[in-house]
Amino acid sequence: MPNNENITNEEKSKNIQSMFDNIADKYDFLNGVLSFAMDDKWRKKAIQLAEINDNHKVLDLACGTGDMIIEIKKQHPLCHVFGGDFSINMLHHCREKIPACPLSAADAHNLPFKDNSFDRLTIAFGFRNVTNKLKGLSEFRRVIKPGGKVCILELTKPENSFTGFFYKLYFMYILPVIGGIFSSKKAYKYLPESVYHFPKRKEYRQLIEDAGFKNITFKSLVFGAVTIAVMEK
Ligand SMILES: C[S@@+](CC[C@H](N)C(=O)[O-])C[C@H]1O[C@@H](n2cnc3c(N)ncnc32)[C@H](O)[C@@H]1O
Repeated sequence: MPNNENITNEEKSKNIQSMFDNIADKYDFLNGVLSFAMDDKWRKKAIQLAEINDNHKVLDLACGTGDMIIEIKKQHPLCHVFGGDFSINMLHHCREKIPACPLSAADAHNLPFKDNSFDRLTIAFGFRNVTNKLKGLSEFRRVIKPGGKVCILELTKPENSFTGFFYKLYFMYILPVIGGIFSSKKAYKYLPESVYHFPKRKEYRQLIEDAGFKNITFKSLVFGAVTIAVMEK
């Protein structure tokens, strides 16, 4: 990822898209290693907090290789889940893992779905990559039904300075090295940067409110290294 402050949000988004296209082959393996295999637990928790039921029509956005979709179907075998992502290579792996799931090429900034289409929208570890977050949130709100919910599972920076120190050590120094050995050094240097630039809780809540959501709740996991935000239209 070029570290150029002057590039536009659209250019940043294109760079992120090609970065995910490039790491798609290694994504599943590295995701498990770098999260100490805790990522599935976090997805499970997010699905519970989203209060999905078997009658729901759910969009899993930034679905990547499909792990969130697999978990939703495990917990709610009858609900209708759709996957969307802007990386064609990630979607390709998702298609191999879950052949029956309807998948679409979809950019969070401009979703190819009609207004009020879904009961729930989930996005796991994808929102920090959405370069215009207010636009993304407004699109999420547009495509869900009134009373529907959006659930955002994301890596966040612990706001406590003691925990933050160890977090920084891992994210800034250890993770890029492990990521670089097995995959792309650039991509795993980008990961901590994207978490560091993610809005703090107060600003995050404000963005969600500005997009028009109500009943906003946050659940912190692992001392704030992971946050699940749930909001209602
Ligand atoms: C870290 S992966 C997470 C994949 C999956 N949700 C999971 O839980 O493993 C992030 C995904 O977000 C997708 N993504 C990033 N920005 C996006 C955007 N603006 N619109 C759609 N997908 C996006 C990437 O292509 C990638 O597949």
